[in-house]
Amino acid sequence: MALPPNFLDELRARTPLPALVGRHVRLARSGRQWKGCCPFHGEKTPSFYVYDDHYHCFGCGEHGDAITFVMKSQGAAFMEAVEQLAAEAGLEVPKPSPAAAEAEARRLDLSAVLEAAARAYQRRLFLPEGARALAYLRGRDLTEETIRRFGLGWSGDGRGALAAELSREGIEPAMLFDAGLMKPPEDGRPAADMFFGRVMFPIRDRRGRTISFGGRILGDGQPKYVNGPETALFSKRRTLFGLDFAREAARVPDTTVLAVEGYMDVIALHQAGVAGAVAPLGTALTEEQLEELWRLSPYPVLCFDGDPPGARAAARAAELALPLLTAERSLKLATLPAGEDPDTLVRHHGKAAIQAVLIAARPLHEALFDLLREAVGDRTPELRATFSKQLDAIAARIRDRSLAWEYRDAFRARFRELYRRPARSPRGGPAPAARVRVPARPALAPANATAEQAGNLVAILLNHPALLADVEEAFGSLELPGPLARLRAAMLDWSECAELLDSAGLMSHLTAIGLAAEATQVVAASSTECAAPSTMPAQAEEVWWHFFGLMHRGRLDEEVVQAVHDFMRRPDDTAAQRRVMSLRAAQEALNRGEQEMEAEP
Ligand code: UTP
Ligand code: MN
Repeated sequence: MALPPNFLDELRARTPLPALVGRHVRLARSGRQWKGCCPFHGEKTPSFYVYDDHYHCFGCGEHGDAITFVMKSQGAAFMEAVEQLAAEAGLEVPKPSPAAAEAEARRLDLSAVLEAAARAYQRRLFLPEGARALAYLRGRDLTEETIRRFGLGWSGDGRGALAAELSREGIEPAMLFDAGLMKPPEDGRPAADMFFGRVMFPIRDRRGRTISFGGRILGDGQPKYVNGPETALFSKRRTLFGLDFAREAARVPDTTVLAVEGYMDVIALHQAGVAGAVAPLGTALTEEQLEELWRLSPYPVLCFDGDPPGARAAARAAELALPLLTAERSLKLATLPAGEDPDTLVRHHGKAAIQAVLIAARPLHEALFDLLREAVGDRTPELRATFSKQLDAIAARIRDRSLAWEYRDAFRARFRELYRRPARSPRGGPAPAARVRVPARPALAPANATAEQAGNLVAILLNHPALLADVEEAFGSLELPGPLARLRAAMLDWSECAELLDSAGLMSHLTAIGLAAEATQVVAASSTECAAPSTMPAQAEEVWWHFFGLMHRGRLDEEVVQAVHDFMRRPDDTAAQRRVMSLRAAQEALNRGEQEMEAEP
């Protein structure tokens, strides 16, 4: 049933959400919002937040408004929920007007036409006439399961075949015009098929109903893709390809929701098990599409190509998002290795490569800083002054006042760190600005290196010497107390000539040079379970970086930058992938720890 949209807005506005939720959940004030234990999953510490107009659980990802809350908490249907809330708010649910009812009926008709067309295209793909198209899709490594899941099809070669086929189902040409599947006759030209000689990609709405199509030419040729025109059902700027599947995926907590560029990217990612991917329809991301992303995740990731047009697209998207940001709705920006799109990346280098890209995604404020620095330049005082002013201007575009303030602070802090470093490490003569860009590595303060953390670092490596290859440089640069430093020297010497970095080999080397007792002692005294040989290597590596970060935070951040850089150059190198992941995990764990400490009174 069609309700006028302003009625639903009015209903939501008249329903105080904290009061409604408060009947089911004990809520406590937390700043401007309310907080309690999530009613949708078992939890003991509250991660369920209620705002004026929506709720969000940071534990399980459940979110919605007053209507969805009633639907989910009481198992009510949409109209039941609306009627119940309307009664409580003293509103009358309007009867649909004849005009609204007719428009709704027409939309239903169009919907049926599009579904019928999707079936027809899909059927043709598996007929002899579709053989080339099917071979094309298989050649792009799509499995039959994927092809069916996305409802891919073959348009046929035009000449009215679709109209002829659908007329048998009682669908008239006029409806095909309305559905955007045929061009009506014009200036003496006869009606013509919108799609012919193309692989067909159904474009579906958030609930999985087909609302239009994109069609790709087989192989090279222009235009590569054509999309259906705007219709009563289909609005390009409001639609995201893959949204139906991404919504399903986003119900699982910790799913990354990401926007990529093309249809094939979304499909290849789904096939690889990255199910939160969507794409706009060949245009830059719109505000409406951003809103859709935010319904799925507070921090969706936007993926861009690693070339100058990709950087410009990222800047445009950030620009668009700025005024809409709040503490609960932001973005991360990810950059693909040059020359790859997500489709080629997963095909050539596997799922881990795209995971590494996502893990390397940067929070919006960091990405903005770098994009602007790149665009403005910072080689002269004038450029740096311009850069600094523009950073302030960017922060000012955020409408949420307290967030704007935080952005300004974060920008200024990073600016100071880059350009206002006290000249304590003489670099020989006045340093040219270009060199100041890369912050010098400050000397390590032994005072930071608590004996316990240092012991843990050595203990982990004694049981997981394979990590030595990855952490060698960082390990070598630490300031360690005498006995640990001796062990380290022996370990690094050994790792340089050992054929296999295994702990049996390492122990026999240490025994030979009389350090076995010391090594055993360090392992026994270690305070982390991750020093145990049974810990998975990836976990051990993450924990190693965590302790390293505790001792020397700035260096950890630099290691992350370096690792991402290496990975971008060699996306197929599994060691580079693993390094990005474990470093990022350690960095995020430390960030979380710092936030918790700040939150303590
Ligand atoms: P790309 O040109 O990046 O293509 O267009 P792609 O997704 O990598 O496609 P493949 O891998 O060659 O098949 C990205 C998106 O831009 C839109 C489509 O939505 C496409 O998925 N597009 C592209 C068009 O609408 N028309 C075009 O001619 C080209
Ligand atoms: Mn592609």
